[in-house]
Amino acid sequence: MTPIQETIINKNTKNTSVWLMRQAGRYLPEFREIRKLNKDFIKLCLNENLSAEITLQPLKRFDLDAAIIFSDILMLPYGLNQKIEFEKNFGPKLGPLDLKEISKTNEINFIERINPVYKSIKKVSEDNTIKNKDLIGFVGAPWTLLVYMINKHSPKKRLVKDFFEDDLLINETLKILEKFLKLHINQQIKNGATLIQIFDSWAGLLEEKDLSNYVYAPTHNLVNYIRSLKIPVVCFPKGIKNYKNYCDIVKPDVVNIDYDTDPVSICKEINIPIQGGLDPKTLLTDKENLKKETKRYLDIFKDHPYIFNLGHGVLPETDPNMVDYLVKMVKDY
Ligand code: CP3
Repeated sequence: MTPIQETIINKNTKNTSVWLMRQAGRYLPEFREIRKLNKDFIKLCLNENLSAEITLQPLKRFDLDAAIIFSDILMLPYGLNQKIEFEKNFGPKLGPLDLKEISKTNEINFIERINPVYKSIKKVSEDNTIKNKDLIGFVGAPWTLLVYMINKHSPKKRLVKDFFEDDLLINETLKILEKFLKLHINQQIKNGATLIQIFDSWAGLLEEKDLSNYVYAPTHNLVNYIRSLKIPVVCFPKGIKNYKNYCDIVKPDVVNIDYDTDPVSICKEINIPIQGGLDPKTLLTDKENLKKETKRYLDIFKDHPYIFNLGHGVLPETDPNMVDYLVKMVKDY
């Protein structure tokens, strides 16, 4: 069994398994070199050879226990034919959300549009580098995808005022998302993903009263689906205030905590395996501070099944030497 599966399934508390969100990409010079020659980010995600190569880049440098496939949560709206592009120094820009247009997509069109993602997963799963390691497939949670599809770019701190105005659009889009998220997850697993992570990066934008409709219920539904395929699922509801409630209702196999979550109280409150927490900004400081903070998380979770990770993705300005230092520290704990 892989080190991460030992933690999840056997509740092993050795706690030296580690991977990092956004480990493939932005901060690695070998990624930037490829990126410079490939200006269109979506096309890069759809280049099965390069995407497989980028997925494996961090594993060639660091002793990580998992690869996460180089793709993006927004490949899903792309598969549904919503226009999308990534603008330098701005991020994603989506075209209008047209219910008629996205309703036209059937399963065959969808798979055809993003098939290279699955081919790339297959390729990575057959590579020697991944032996006894996990290959993480991922999706955006329905809520976070809805935010991008309606808002059309990353929201800053809050939603636009009229976000919930069109009930029909929201409810129909959620239904379509459910169907295609299941398909997308299923295809990733069929091609070799051994673990699925659901990113709910904008869960923290909702008030408590809206969590049930937009976060808990649709995510629980996906969790049940993934469980029926006998693959473990990690959920990351970033910015949510009450992780315990979330775990009680959504019932993931593992929960990833963000950097604002107090690890001491979460360790007491939550029984399921926990992943993550360290503030990615810690990697921008110095080795002494990184060592202190890393040790703090490892000490707090020493008797709890824990997968080391960050409380959000690796930042683009991170020095790869700091990542190397961090991974070695966890392995030597
Ligand atoms: O973890 C990995 O390294 C695998 C690849 C991965 C990417 N995006 C590649 C990427 C993963 C897991 C994601 C998830 C993702 N994408 C999330 C959830 C996690 C989170 O950060 O909250 C979200 C919200 C997105 C949407 C997205 N993609 C945004 C807002 C942006 C622009 C800002 C940014 O992060 O750079 C992207 C672009 C993106 N996705 C890049 C990469 C490597 C940068 C592309 C570039 O080189 O310009």
